[in-house]
Formats: sequence, C-alpha cells, structure tokens
Amino acid sequence: MPRPVPTTPALTQADVRAQAAACPDLESLAAAVSRCEACGLARTRTQTVFMDGARTGACKSGLLFVGEAPGADEDRQGVPFVGRAGQLLTEIITKGIGIPREDVQIANVLKCRPPENRDPTSAEKEVCTPWLERQIELTSPRVIVPLGKHAANYHLGLPPETPMGATRGRTHVRKGRMLIPTYHPAYLLRSPGEKKACWQDIQVAMNVLGIAKAPRKGQTKPSS
Ligand code: URA
Repeated sequence: MPRPVPTTPALTQADVRAQAAACPDLESLAAAVSRCEACGLARTRTQTVFMDGARTGACKSGLLFVGEAPGADEDRQGVPFVGRAGQLLTEIITKGIGIPREDVQIANVLKCRPPENRDPTSAEKEVCTPWLERQIELTSPRVIVPLGKHAANYHLGLPPETPMGATRGRTHVRKGRMLIPTYHPAYLLRSPGEKKACWQDIQVAMNVLGIAKAPRKGQTKPSS
C-alpha cells in the first residue's frame, strides 16, 4: 500500500529559511530546492520547478512574474508556465510587452505541484516561501507581477481568499518592492473578457520599467 502523504511539513519555516540563506547564488539555491523534502509534496512531485529566466541575478527587464504552483506540464518539464496558461503568459510577454520571454523571470509561490492541481495549503506556503524570498533577494526584480489571488495575497500578506478585485488595478510597495498584481493566465483562459484589465496592469508595469509599448502589426517603432 502507498504510504499516505503527510500533511504536516517535516521542516519548519525557520529551517527552510536557514537553508535558503546559506545559498549564495541562484544555482546553489536551485540545487537546494531540488533536494527539498520540507513538506509532503516532495513525495508526489516528479521534480521541483525552480524558475525560468536568467540564473545569474537580475534579468534584463527587471520584471518577475510569480504564479501559484506548478501544474502537470510544469511538473513534467521542470519549468514554470509551460502549459496552456504558460502559453498565454508567453504571449503577454512577447506580443503584449514585446520582449523575449528570456528577458523576464518567472517563478511560483510553491516549487512543487500540489496533486490534482489543488490549491496550495497554508502549511505548504509557509514552509516553501523562504525559497521564493531568497530567489527575490538574489534576482532583485524592479517590479513583481503576482499572477492570481494566491500569489497576490501571499506577497501582500493578505488572507488567502481575498479576491483579486481587492488588490489588482493598483500599484503596491511591500518590503521595498513594487508589486502590480494581475489575473492568473488560467483565469484569463476561462474569462477572456478580463484580458483588457490584465493588459492595463501590464502597461502600468511597462511604464514603471520604462518599456515602450510594442508597435502594432504594420506600425514601426517610433525612433526616439
Ligand atoms: N500555474 C501556475 O501558477 N504556475 C505554473 O507554473 C503553471 C500554471
């Protein structure tokens, strides 16, 4: 009989924080994450999903997207946002913002897939987020765009069920970082009518980062 997955994390948040703090760079952090057995998700994952984008420190655009947790495709490939929602995020980056996906960084609140894509539990978030915090220290993004309510509420220290309506459409500053929450691409696939609102949020991020709007098809970028 398979052993039941423990719901109580094996390590405390302080344990994970200490392990993360001991990592001087993103490569050692990724290696430590890949060995993590702090909670029961270690038993059900195929692999950890660390991040996408530059592994040397800050990325070219200064923009970090943070989603909720890996899904089935991400768990298989070890890269965040590579499934259907990921394709939409890639379009937002490449067609909307007009920069290559490699110029941004992409991570998740959780580094492992919750079985059946259930919501992350509070215990999982508590024990896993020191990895993300260290990732943010090492990448020093100028703007963080949390995707969906789990990421937004985590970054803003709000109760997990706080609706997106309470956080998006505004710029927030927390722990010295600028946060511009927007809808999760999976939600946009179900509710395409909200894409316009997401695009408004993305444009705010572009303004802050000094990224010029990509020219529409047939238009040429104005020479400055
Ligand atoms: N949804 C997320 O929140 N993160 C992923 O990496 C993929 C889908």
